[in-house]
Amino acid sequence: MSKRELEFSTKYTLKHSQQYHHKHQKTLGRRISNWREQQMAARALALAGHPASVLDLPCGTGRFWPLLARKQDRTILAADNSEAMLAVAQEVNPPTLLARVKPFPCSAFDIPMGNDSVDHIFCMRLLHHITQPKDRLAILKEFHRVTRDTVALSLWVDGNYKALRRQKLEARRTHKSYQNRIVIERKVIEREFGDAGFVITGHFDFLKFYAMWRLYVLKKNPS
Ligand SMILES: C[S@@+](CC[C@H](N)C(=O)[O-])C[C@H]1O[C@@H](n2cnc3c(N)ncnc32)[C@H](O)[C@@H]1O
Repeated sequence: MSKRELEFSTKYTLKHSQQYHHKHQKTLGRRISNWREQQMAARALALAGHPASVLDLPCGTGRFWPLLARKQDRTILAADNSEAMLAVAQEVNPPTLLARVKPFPCSAFDIPMGNDSVDHIFCMRLLHHITQPKDRLAILKEFHRVTRDTVALSLWVDGNYKALRRQKLEARRTHKSYQNRIVIERKVIEREFGDAGFVITGHFDFLKFYAMWRLYVLKKNPS
């Protein structure tokens, strides 16, 4: 496993990718949760100024492509580390939508694009998997290099009931194996955003004081 290949990244096989696609539609709870995430993402894109070019990274199976494609003249680039996720995205989305999106495989640590090449990087459900601060900083710095203007990213933060409950469960776990997902303290991640050269434009909570999901909109500080 190379230095920048994280253990969690290897789990997105074809079977897992198909399951991931169906997961968000499986139960009423999941459908409501997906609806709320789409709503938060739409608000984030509006706060980012309705960017004309967007890199959806990681795009997974294209859950947010219909939302991104709502702006008719938007250029949509989409990338993911997992070829399987990209293959499922090609299978499950309609041709009219696929015609709008340019997908390619890549790691968030090493985006094969020049400096300042898109208006916005749209990064849903990646950072809560990135447990090491040095890895988060490397990804944030790569985003800072590639975006011209803004980034939207979602992750799990503290300061709510679910995070407290998770903390208690973690404390009780005797068998401490590899941790796949983590809650990051707001003050820690917000400092890391600054360290990578971003200022916070705003944020949206999934359900304030209850749920862990928070979506931040960041603006590149060119200095
Ligand atoms: C939880 S899924 C989120 C997918 C999509 N953003 C969504 O919300 O539906 C996490 C995704 O991150 C991708 N991934 C894992 N490690 C990555 C890396 N180093 N660079 C880019 N993508 C990565 C996985 O392949 C997977 O598609």
